[in-house]
Amino acid sequence: MHIRLRGRRVPCRTVTYDLQSNSVRLIEQRLLPHTFKIAGFGDYQATARAIQDMVVRGAGAIGATAAYGLAQGAQAFRGSNLDRFCAHVDRVQRTLGDARPTAVDPVNAMITVRRKMKRGGTVADQKRIAVAAAHDFADEDVAHCAAIGGHGSSLIREGMNVLTHCNAGWLAFVDVGSATAPIYAAHRQGRRFHVFCDETRPRCQGASLTAWELAQEGVSHQVIADNAAGFLFSRDEIDLVIVGSDRVLGRTGEVANKIGTYTKAVLAHRHGVPFYVAIPLSTIDWDLESGRDIPIEQRSPDEVLGAWGAGADGKRQYVRIANPGSGALNPGFDVTPAELITGIITPEGVFDPRDLWRHRDRLAGPKPGRAPAKSK
Ligand code: MRU
Repeated sequence: MHIRLRGRRVPCRTVTYDLQSNSVRLIEQRLLPHTFKIAGFGDYQATARAIQDMVVRGAGAIGATAAYGLAQGAQAFRGSNLDRFCAHVDRVQRTLGDARPTAVDPVNAMITVRRKMKRGGTVADQKRIAVAAAHDFADEDVAHCAAIGGHGSSLIREGMNVLTHCNAGWLAFVDVGSATAPIYAAHRQGRRFHVFCDETRPRCQGASLTAWELAQEGVSHQVIADNAAGFLFSRDEIDLVIVGSDRVLGRTGEVANKIGTYTKAVLAHRHGVPFYVAIPLSTIDWDLESGRDIPIEQRSPDEVLGAWGAGADGKRQYVRIANPGSGALNPGFDVTPAELITGIITPEGVFDPRDLWRHRDRLAGPKPGRAPAKSK
């Protein structure tokens, strides 16, 4: 990605790591679109808090942050006792893994890093491998998103109106994005089309982050209230939906994504509009057998009862919207069943969600996994 800053286009990644200072560096997403800032986190606990507090968010981005956080935690270990080192890294992995429960990318990222670390015979070897493996994960995230753009761009035809939900863009990954990859690729190929960004209450990632990205890329777009999509579908003003995901079940094709995704999938189905989900391979969970087993993050009621924004002075502030004294329920994600999904756009091509398991060797490499409980 290139960010336009004071008239210059500056190359940037959402997540990076500096070995010398052993710090994880993140675009501070809570300040966007009003202020662009990169913040450094000097130990793995601070990195875990940055995930939890949503300095960084989006499945791919928190996956890469967890991978770097693991390497950061490993680097901080003093001593050469391998058993003590492994116990320490277990702790680091648990802390980072517990930061946000729904996305599977951090889990998969850290499993990958640790698997590679096992090849090192000493603490020093394993530390070095951890950093290299975290960089590999981040680079693979970028490559996967670019490949999604290649497979998905032909879905976007001249003159279409495309709906997207939440932010599955640069900021939700290391770069490029998943749902936005076909959008950016089609835009670069010269096609003209329009994107509706669901506002995505309660945190408004669509209004703040996706709209900011699309503006940076020069893609025609408008923010719509979450409740407006039904009206637009009913007037044939939405031709295609592309969203990202925090966890796709390889066994059933069910898709967990930002709360409100299921509602849009039902609407798309009702109106015969194709509904695609774009994911890197780190978003596939090959173990869970039912969407009901996906841990759904319950977030603070304050997010529903009010909203964050910038005041006239440009400073970030929270305003209460709801009736004083009323409480709120705030599930962060929902689960969309396979039958509502037209296709899953992956770096390996576009798949029917019910065919993921059949293609698991291609999508996950050879895995010992059990057969699905019931085949669909
Ligand atoms: O709560 P967030 O902002 O982390 O939720 C992000 C989303 O739901 C994205 O759509 C999702 O991560 C898929 S794209 C990586």
